[in-house]
Amino acid sequence: MYDFKPAAGADPAEIHRDLCAAADALTAGEPDGVANMANVAALLWEFLPDLNWAGFYRVAPAKGGGGQELVLGPFVGRPACIRIPFGKGVCGTAAESRATQLVADVHAFPGHIACDAASRSELVVPVLRDGTVIAVIDLDSPSPARFGTEDARGIEALAALLAPRI
Ligand code: SME
Repeated sequence: MYDFKPAAGADPAEIHRDLCAAADALTAGEPDGVANMANVAALLWEFLPDLNWAGFYRVAPAKGGGGQELVLGPFVGRPACIRIPFGKGVCGTAAESRATQLVADVHAFPGHIACDAASRSELVVPVLRDGTVIAVIDLDSPSPARFGTEDARGIEALAALLAPRI
């Protein structure tokens, strides 16, 4: 049994340090990317309060042929849209721009894709391997402006750790 938990009363920076350490311990030496993403989705859910969705979209061949798109990966939360074209919604914008998207109010984000009507704010971080985006980490919250720069930096560190492991 694994028993990773955030320390009681920890501030966001500490939570992210502990989350990264737990993700490192769980994924080190495991070559199966799906297993690693599944366990990290569970850790995100366990460590970060006030989420309604946490997980991965992977870059994969587009279903209709010609290029690539984001395809749903391991997650915790309600069933979600399966395929997202690059440039669409918050996830597609993160994938296309290769830049973190910190969205305080999803209703104000042009083209936001509402997978769960409860979502109010969102953080999406691209996972880059050798400069190429291979996945995004997506966090949704039912609270407006749930995510801050410490969350963005923490999830970017997690993405860097996971890039060779997923
Ligand atoms: N809201 C995202 C879509 C994914 S779900 O939130 C799980 C977006 O606009 O890209």
